Amino acid sequence: MTTLAFDVYGTLIDTQGVSVTLEKFLGEKASAFSRAWRDKQLEYSFRRGLMQNYENFSVCTRDALDYTCALFNSALNQAEKNELMEAYQMLPAFEDVKEGLALAKKSGFRLFAFSNGSSDAVDTLLTRAGIREAFIDVVSVDEIRSFKPNPGAYCHFLRRACALGSDTWLISSNPFDVIGALSAGLHAAWVKRSSQALFDPWGIEPTVTVSSLLHLPPEILKRQESAKGLHDGH
Ligand code: LAC
Repeated sequence: MTTLAFDVYGTLIDTQGVSVTLEKFLGEKASAFSRAWRDKQLEYSFRRGLMQNYENFSVCTRDALDYTCALFNSALNQAEKNELMEAYQMLPAFEDVKEGLALAKKSGFRLFAFSNGSSDAVDTLLTRAGIREAFIDVVSVDEIRSFKPNPGAYCHFLRRACALGSDTWLISSNPFDVIGALSAGLHAAWVKRSSQALFDPWGIEPTVTVSSLLHLPPEILKRQESAKGLHDGH
């Protein structure tokens, strides 16, 4: 049976959703602020992983918020920052997610959420977005105190999901995650919802690229059929 590991932030859940709360405090700078905040949050997780100086993802998010406030010269007070962190726990799912997950389940795949976020944070987020029950379990890198794309994170996922890399797909909109999973021996689908999204030119390509989760199950099945055909010598 094929296992699918869905990345959470930016893939199932729209981190730009925090812009609604940000607009209250920052007006038209909200969307640029939100992007800078997200980039810094990821950078802090990568650096903490490399330095082996682990703190969980919400610490990276909070520290990145402080940094981004300084960068944008916006003197948000503690209550406002707390409100933003709270909003980060109530982000919406992308439009195609509910139906895409239902279709993936119907196609016979085993579905897991697999995130840099802590289990509690991800559980809350998915529950509030109304999609938690689609997953067998939430696997968090917090359990090994490191972050994707550390290869150990993908190994941890396989162990937790009792799966083999050859039967497992990482599903992510984040190119760093797709490349990380491929390098660790999994298949990987890049969810490219925007035509503007860019992939890193590392010479490592996604197994498939889809513009919506609705296209994911048929693409995976097609890929498996043609691999089987090759194997059977057709
Ligand atoms: C996650 C971040 C990296 O959910 O998007 O793992």
